[in-house]
Amino acid sequence: MQKFIVKGGRRLRGELALQGSKNSALPIMAATLLCGGECRLNNCPRLTDIYSASRILNCVGCRCTFSENTAVVDSSVVNETVISEELMREMRSSIIFMGAMLGRTGECTVSVPGGCELGPRPIDMHLAAMRKMGVDIRESYGRIICRAPSGKAHGARISLAFPSVGATENIILCAVTAEGETVINNAAREPEIRDLCGFLRACGANIKGDGESKIIIKGAGKLHGCEYTIMADRIVGATYLSMTAASRGEIILTNACVPEMEPFLSVLEQTGCSVYTNENKIYLRSGARLKAVKDRIRTMPHPGFPTDAQAVLMAALTVSDGTSVFEENIFDCRYRHTDALVKMGADIQVLGKVAIIKGTPRLHGAAVEATDLRGGAAMVLAALAAEGTTEIDRISHIDRGYEKMEETVRKLGGDMQRG
Ligand code: EPU
Repeated sequence: MQKFIVKGGRRLRGELALQGSKNSALPIMAATLLCGGECRLNNCPRLTDIYSASRILNCVGCRCTFSENTAVVDSSVVNETVISEELMREMRSSIIFMGAMLGRTGECTVSVPGGCELGPRPIDMHLAAMRKMGVDIRESYGRIICRAPSGKAHGARISLAFPSVGATENIILCAVTAEGETVINNAAREPEIRDLCGFLRACGANIKGDGESKIIIKGAGKLHGCEYTIMADRIVGATYLSMTAASRGEIILTNACVPEMEPFLSVLEQTGCSVYTNENKIYLRSGARLKAVKDRIRTMPHPGFPTDAQAVLMAALTVSDGTSVFEENIFDCRYRHTDALVKMGADIQVLGKVAIIKGTPRLHGAAVEATDLRGGAAMVLAALAAEGTTEIDRISHIDRGYEKMEETVRKLGGDMQRG
């Protein structure tokens, strides 16, 4: 198993073009199934989760190839409706293929995506919505067998109990080619939903209200292929900004999605860093020790503070001056990285959904294991800010969401190797 070996203590400095968004690219890859032709997706990040999505597309009969950061998907042929348990287990977001497969073929067999990385991640809202759209769903020994009796799902009025990103995506994917109109109330407003809808509109879909809590989709008979550029990854942006801030460095992020990052940037600024934005650029300078964040940092659905940026900002605040408090409101079990940070000298107390971080002047290197994608990134951040060497194991978690993190960090002047 590969490791990251990080020697801490260097200031990060330089310019970085932000990679494309994983959480946009995955549902958009699923959406290509609806087009029945060729789609070219530019700015597609080269990540293990993206390769898993490509394997699912290939297994149902499509052809997905990559050239640099462009993915080309030809979905002229779809001749398989069963996605194996093995493929479903590779990544949790494989579940969004359910809506797309139903939209394309009116049936599919999937399974519950495995693992409990962030606590229980049920799919009850996905299934209830599909049932409301006329899909017959049977669950048998972990397999989920879905079939629209008339060959097509129909529109429905769906009110989500919580604005789930994945459930909103699945409903949109099933609705764009369904019979009639679908209304989603309390829909997720994450920027990645808008990106998915932007792609679908470029393919001929009729969707209104994305980015707001009520989305209206009029089923279109058929969609067509298109060329589309995937938005920048706001969480990868938050990670490298937090890393630079903790190292007391200076960075220019280019190709950034500035308005989408505002909920994160407004909190980061409270640590005393200078942050300037201009069109698609973000400049950050952090000369002195970071200040603690006074107000409680509550993770909330967009436009609140993103749960995916909680771990990396927390790691930066472990070396700040003062006490910061986080409240995790999206996932039940998203503090698993804190044990590793404590092993590196951080002072963190977790009480249910609250984590209290008392800043310490310095961290020290240790042997740790990545617990999940963003938690792993937080460990790299802490290692770069620490004295001495840190070895981070189980880095396959980190490779799911960050393109060659070690090369990016080295480009910014950090000392990080893959061993
Ligand atoms: N939930 C249910 N029932 C459902 C669906 C969700 O109870 O049917 C609960 C979940 O258990 C969770 C909450 O609702 O407590 C939010 O889950 P949501 O469905 O919004 O999350 P997701 O679609 O599974 C996506 C991102 C996550 C990100 C969340 C929240 C992708 C591929 N994943 O997950 O990204 O944290 O939205 O913004 O888009 C990451 O990139 O590291 C990551 C975990």
